[in-house]
Amino acid sequence: MTASMPHVMNTYGRLPFALSHGQGCRVWDTDGKAYLDGLGGIAVNTVGHNHPRLVPALQEQIAKLIHCSNYYENPLQEQLATLLCELSGLSSAFFCSTGLEANEGAIKIARKYGHDKGIERPEIIVYEKAFHGRSIATLSATGNTKVQQGFGPLVEGFVRVPLNDIAAVREVAASNPNVVAVFLETIQGEGGINPSRWDYLRELRQLCDTQDWLLMLDEVQCGLGRTGKWFAHQWAGIVPDVMPLAKGLGSGVPVGAIVVGDKAKDVFGPGNHGTTFGGNPLAMRAGIETLQIMIDDGLLENAATVGGALRAALQSELGGLAGFKEIRGQGLMLGIELDRPCGVLLGRAAEAGLLLSVTADSVIRLVPPLIITMAEAQEIVAILVPLVKAFLAESAP
Ligand SMILES: Cc1ncc(COP(=O)(O)O)c(C=O)c1O
Repeated sequence: MTASMPHVMNTYGRLPFALSHGQGCRVWDTDGKAYLDGLGGIAVNTVGHNHPRLVPALQEQIAKLIHCSNYYENPLQEQLATLLCELSGLSSAFFCSTGLEANEGAIKIARKYGHDKGIERPEIIVYEKAFHGRSIATLSATGNTKVQQGFGPLVEGFVRVPLNDIAAVREVAASNPNVVAVFLETIQGEGGINPSRWDYLRELRQLCDTQDWLLMLDEVQCGLGRTGKWFAHQWAGIVPDVMPLAKGLGSGVPVGAIVVGDKAKDVFGPGNHGTTFGGNPLAMRAGIETLQIMIDDGLLENAATVGGALRAALQSELGGLAGFKEIRGQGLMLGIELDRPCGVLLGRAAEAGLLLSVTADSVIRLVPPLIITMAEAQEIVAILVPLVKAFLAESAP
């Protein structure tokens, strides 16, 4: 497929097939081969494929109005913002289209928050192994030299610390008066499914309060029900000041949001930020319908129950095998870490009829649609476990 696409820029290592259509948690390629979707377009297809409620709602919206500019009032934006604020305990939302845009906006909010306090060169604490996107500012905040390689000079104003080490953050607090915010993924996704400890998040919340910093939690991948709560940080019982969202919010229609609390809601004023597509009626309808379906169909409970069972089954099949390290994550955001690079499993799983990804070289990632059933989770185990066992038996670390 890659060789036959000479006009598409060569930025992805692609598998040699194209998907044609889907139904529920299953997709088919153009040759008619079926795959169980353990990836959900990388944590995007929240309600699966061809959902009987989402599709007619989007069709109706397309016939009414796809796009209008942000020059006018937009009741659908108001409706989605209200829902997101009710679910998160936050107070205001800005809409964009992608995760990097939401994060770029969050970085701008942090800088302006600093400038408004008289800090001329604001700095943001960011994390080793973090991933926040591919724009110049978000790749500068990202903690992965492979992503940054070749794109210098990077954006300044970031101080990097290791995850789950509160002493490291306290050290920065003691020595750097220019810090204005702490910015992290509640559960790191691309970095290998690395959860923040809940007690660490609570300590960060306290520190941000005493330092008058913004706590900014990137929930682009781990948010929106995937962990079994609306937002992953809710497991820690805290509320952030700024929360970028995207991926699962529109079930495949590009929708991003920066949801903020009282401390950040008045930082931007007219003229400070904007985007042409952000918040258009089609995107807003996708977001509203996605959240309503999640509520009506109990998809948070499903994520917690099926995710818990999937994890337990994988642990009991793989635990103790030479080469298996551990399973990390929460709900339907799971990473299986092996002791060696295992990118080859991506193609082998696809051949066997399962879509997944490998991240951070040696972590098999499962982020399926939140509608996945217990039987489909068992099917994932039945396909994946023999592949992992065979791979570990044949390859030396
Ligand atoms: C945590 C996190 N933030 C930001 C992004 C960037 O999102 P997008 O690809 O929509 O720009 C990603 C994408 O993988 C992500 O996982």
